[in-house]
Amino acid sequence: MKSSAHPQECPPPERPEYAFIGRSNVGKSSLINMLTNRNSLAKISSTPGKTQLINHFVIDEQREKNGIPASWYLVDLPGFGYAKVSKSSRVKWQRTSEQFLKSRPNLMCVMMLLDSRHSPQKVDMEFMEWMGENQLPFVMVFTKVDKLNQAQRASFFPDYEAVMLKRWHRMPPVYITSAEKGEGRGELLRLIEQTNALFEAP
Ligand code: GTP
Ligand code: MG
Repeated sequence: MKSSAHPQECPPPERPEYAFIGRSNVGKSSLINMLTNRNSLAKISSTPGKTQLINHFVIDEQREKNGIPASWYLVDLPGFGYAKVSKSSRVKWQRTSEQFLKSRPNLMCVMMLLDSRHSPQKVDMEFMEWMGENQLPFVMVFTKVDKLNQAQRASFFPDYEAVMLKRWHRMPPVYITSAEKGEGRGELLRLIEQTNALFEAP
């Protein structure tokens, strides 16, 4: 629907909204395309830093449920923590994304994407803590699980949990996904569907 450089330019908060956030290259755009069954809705690239604006997509635009519009926004946010961008653009990213997340009354849930191949990263931990402090609802979405072998698949989550539970009382909801294989699609769409039902239009 719209790409915005600043939170003030974003579409009006009239639909329930889900923001996809995570480090550069974690697979945000790929997951969005997997969920929507489109090959190129969100631009994918092997070059980190491809997504640089706040991108709003309207999903199920024509759909109604009991006479009430049932559409929702999916938001692709720029990746963070990419080492090769300048410090000033990293600070700018952080300001823009934080302002965006705090300014949206229609934000139902943040999808916090984490690469299942990587051990827990400081920037991710800090970002989740920032969301917790600001009472932003989020779920953890592990990406690229098709790249794990069986042993890695069995161990990546317990490793994460051990680190998380040093700082959190309990784990946020967790989703395991592969954009490549379509894994986790039904579960995430179900979450969105159930959460949409809680939205109260302004
Ligand atoms: P930025 O927009 O730069 O922040 O990146 P992004 O998080 O949107 O990542 P993107 O979806 O562009 O994917 C980055 C790379 O990872 C691409 O080469 C994708 O093909 C690959 N990738 C993403 N998801 C998966 C997955 O589930 N499995 C595999 N094998 N590769 C994936
Ligand atoms: Mg992207």
